[in-house]
Amino acid sequence: MDFKLTEEHEMIRQAARDFAKTELLPGVIERDNKQEFPAEQIKKLGELGFMGMMASPEYGGGGMDTISYILAMEELSKIDASASVVVSVNNSLVCWGLDTYGTPDQKEKYLSKLTTGEALGAFCLSEPEAGSDATSQKTTAIDKGDHYILNGTKNWITNGGSADYYLVIAQTDREKKHRGINAFIVEKGWEGFEVGPKEDKMGIRGSDTHSLNFNDVKVPKENRIGEDGFGFKFAMKTLSGGRIGIAAQALGIAAGAYELSKEYSKTRKAFGTEIMNHQAIAFKLADMHTQIEAARHLVMKAAWDKDQGNNYDLSGAMAKLYASQVAMDVSTEAVQVHGGNGYVKEYHVERLMRDAKITQIYEGTSEIQKIVISRSILKG
Ligand code: CAA
Repeated sequence: MDFKLTEEHEMIRQAARDFAKTELLPGVIERDNKQEFPAEQIKKLGELGFMGMMASPEYGGGGMDTISYILAMEELSKIDASASVVVSVNNSLVCWGLDTYGTPDQKEKYLSKLTTGEALGAFCLSEPEAGSDATSQKTTAIDKGDHYILNGTKNWITNGGSADYYLVIAQTDREKKHRGINAFIVEKGWEGFEVGPKEDKMGIRGSDTHSLNFNDVKVPKENRIGEDGFGFKFAMKTLSGGRIGIAAQALGIAAGAYELSKEYSKTRKAFGTEIMNHQAIAFKLADMHTQIEAARHLVMKAAWDKDQGNNYDLSGAMAKLYASQVAMDVSTEAVQVHGGNGYVKEYHVERLMRDAKITQIYEGTSEIQKIVISRSILKG
């Protein structure tokens, strides 16, 4: 067993760290306040190769392993989880899904633009009545021979307003239940496709979350992903990998909050000394550091499983469940370490605490991760 990162991994981590400090940090508070999408920063991330890290080089991707992607996600999330969720959805849901299951034509037409930042993707599974219960899709895609007609509403879609291409999950044959579900590539601007209002969120406020309406949208048959009826498995497989990315985001939020707290404890004085000299603070930092290291091991193990070709449903779900809890715990403690300053925006930790919460909700709530974990450990 070797816990050491390769030189290439170290370089990727450093590049993401530098980008986060120089490009994301300067406007992060303002973007959060104004709910402003980091469009310029995402474009630059695309140019630097962070938007399609694991995708095939043939289609503009970086051909990197999951560990590289996880390292980048952690670094970006330390500073700006609104930007990192955009990176995560594009990389692990949209690019990975298309690269793994798309046809050569689909990859040529769509993936090659998504990997380079020329276009942005969104993944559309959740509905007003089908969040956790993903098999209960109400959106329909009726087979009309050479095309499908898509009708329905999707909710809480990350990149909803900013994306160019949308992977949309819909029910084609209700009688077949989840085996009658398909996934489609839908382009922004197609007739009948409307982007609904932007959500006013607690956290990750710089990201762009919308509902989407599909009213008789004509989708060519060549835009279906995989065989007829593959859509639910496509969504589950894609989300399994996506959960590792969100686990890394949670890890980054926790690590960012911890690093700020450690620095703060060295400069802030109370009762005649720096607060790090009080056990009340030192013990908090010890707990935070330990929790983060434990989360990091789970996240790395899940990424390693994926890179080795092992099943990663269980390790990915455990990583997300635990890392998101750590993000919540550590960011809450970070606010406590900062005292009154922790409650004001300037010090960043209140934003990290608000951002942490979504990691327990999207790409499967913590309760969904427990379903995946318990089924996996009990079946075998
Ligand atoms: N890989 C491949 N196939 C899988 C799978 C996986 N990981 N998980 C399930 N399946 C297959 C099963 O094998 C089964 O297929 P067969 O009947 O052919 O054998 C089929 O899918 C149905 O499986 P289940 O009976 O287990 O389905 P279920 O109704 O009990 O649901 C669930 C399982 C795990 C709860 C699932 O519904 C789920 O993951 N729900 C949460 C959905 C979710 O994560 N939503 C997040 C939205 S996306 C998002 O947040 C993106 C964003 O914008 C940031």
